[in-house]
Amino acid sequence: MFRFDIINHLIKIYNFTNYLEIGIFDGECINRINCQNKDGVDPGVENGLAIGVNYKLTSNDFFEQNKDKFYDIIFIDGLHLSEQVDVDIENSLRQTKDNGMVILHDCNPTNLEMTLIPRETVQWNGDVYKSILKFRKINTKHSFFTVDTDWGVGIIVKNKKQLDWNAPKNYDLALNDWHYFDLNRKNLLNLISVEEFFKLFNDRPVLKTTWNSGFFSCCTVKLRGILEFHHKNNILPNVDSSEQWELYKDDGIDEIQQWWGGTVDVFNQNDITDKFFKNNKIYDFDFQNFSDFSNYPKVCNEDQFINYHKINYDYVNKITDIYFDLSEEVLSIKKHLIKKYKIETSKIIAVCFRGNDKFLETNLPSYEILMNKIEKIKNEFSDHKILIQTDEKEFIDLVTNKFNDCIVIEETTKINKSTNSVQYTIKKGQRVYSAQLFLAVMSIISDSSKVILNSGNVGLWICLFRKKSNNVYQFLHKLDETPNEFWLE
Ligand SMILES: C[S@@+](CC[C@H](N)C(=O)[O-])C[C@H]1O[C@@H](n2cnc3c(N)ncnc32)[C@H](O)[C@@H]1O
Repeated sequence: MFRFDIINHLIKIYNFTNYLEIGIFDGECINRINCQNKDGVDPGVENGLAIGVNYKLTSNDFFEQNKDKFYDIIFIDGLHLSEQVDVDIENSLRQTKDNGMVILHDCNPTNLEMTLIPRETVQWNGDVYKSILKFRKINTKHSFFTVDTDWGVGIIVKNKKQLDWNAPKNYDLALNDWHYFDLNRKNLLNLISVEEFFKLFNDRPVLKTTWNSGFFSCCTVKLRGILEFHHKNNILPNVDSSEQWELYKDDGIDEIQQWWGGTVDVFNQNDITDKFFKNNKIYDFDFQNFSDFSNYPKVCNEDQFINYHKINYDYVNKITDIYFDLSEEVLSIKKHLIKKYKIETSKIIAVCFRGNDKFLETNLPSYEILMNKIEKIKNEFSDHKILIQTDEKEFIDLVTNKFNDCIVIEETTKINKSTNSVQYTIKKGQRVYSAQLFLAVMSIISDSSKVILNSGNVGLWICLFRKKSNNVYQFLHKLDETPNEFWLE
């Protein structure tokens, strides 16, 4: 198993199209790489100009002159002095795309002689391994693995945290003491076997999720599907959601009738998930123990109505981190709203009341019950402002008339109290954006100090984004658990 086999595997499974190699020599590697666009950088100090070198430059000059070039995957194999490799890593990380990868050769030298500078051996790794130690010492953002083959092939996975960070390592000692490095290399380099590499970076089975209704109803069904899949197959799937969020597709069906369910007559087969959530790659997921939301029957309609304090967040958060991490577009809307409305989430009592046609499915609190709850909490936390989010205009009027320090996000769609649902009123062309806006507001609510909500998919997802349910006051679906009181806190 050689460096180019590893790189080719990654290019294939992640559909990478742009490859850069630093240090080409005779082209043994770059000529074997199967990628749509390949760039090769080499000043030609060790060999004549090999086929594959289209930038006859040092890596420093290349990065300096090509700041606008971004790659999916960069292979660093130029000058093997750690001071230079440090710079190559920094430049490469800057010029790889999100979730891109930086690969390094010669990370795992077998003996001290092969690392000496100046070079004394024919086969020579230089002190590249020291750059790995220095990188791992300060790195807090990216995953790192060294595949134990072909002198150690290092893989930095950009913007992806990993699980081994807590294992004790003394990078400083390893930098100064070869023997310490030699004894602890597995831990220090995060060495993995070729088999482990294929397990971690694999072609995952695809799960197709189908259900259309409100935005968070689609999310719940998708999450339920992933949980069940993990339970059954012990592996997390790649998810194809092309038949979901139909009501939110700008190029979807023209007229949205009031319906919910798995199918509509005309499907637009685009998967628009990435408008809402990042396409996070799945690494290091070693949780084999399936855990449901709670003990409720496994019927997706019921998930939204569970007691949110009983969610096994330790498990579910790991899944939502992968599949429901907010997209950059949503995060930027969120940032804009926070600035515009001067929102300090640590001093917010967020009230999220999903009314209107929700009464068809669950027990809703009356305005009076809600107002009493808001008043009670506001009395306790008088320095907090109230952020009110609801689809019923009348309720906004009631709250804003009673409390003078309210925040109402004007941008979200509201309707007069009725048996309709907001999403059916949004026109084509505004659907994606209005869902992104709604998500951004839900995320602000989930960050708020106190949250008052009713049961339903919206409430459930506020808790799932919050990743816990402390200081959440939930109005229960039914009185199964606490016979005299609908409110849970
Ligand atoms: C180990 S060889 C590359 C082997 C090749 N990547 C492979 O896998 O077959 C190192 C190459 O780095 C080139 N090199 C030396 N200094 C460099 C620098 N500052 N920037 C880029 N390449 C450099 C040398 O000319 C040499 O061809």
